[in-house]
Amino acid sequence: RFEIVLARSVMNLTVEPGRSILETVREAGVTIPSSCEQGACGTCRVAVIDGQPDHQDVYLDEDERAAGDSMMTCVSRSLTDRLTLDL
Ligand code: FES
Repeated sequence: RFEIVLARSVMNLTVEPGRSILETVREAGVTIPSSCEQGACGTCRVAVIDGQPDHQDVYLDEDERAAGDSMMTCVSRSLTDRLTLDL
């Protein structure tokens, strides 16, 4: 499990094992558009302000992965205890 901070919504949420960031954020009432929900389409992309995403998608290229400044919230997780997102 890891924590996400929604910078614009001023909310802290916990992402439990087996749950996605997308699900967790939606349950809190914050909208993220999505389509495939399998890490392939790029619709659920969110900017990362702080922390290191654990990319599980097949959408971002190598440079984008390495930059770590955006992520697919339907499948990707976190390598750090906390991720701050531009939401
Ligand atoms: Fe398609 Fe997340 S909804 S990559």
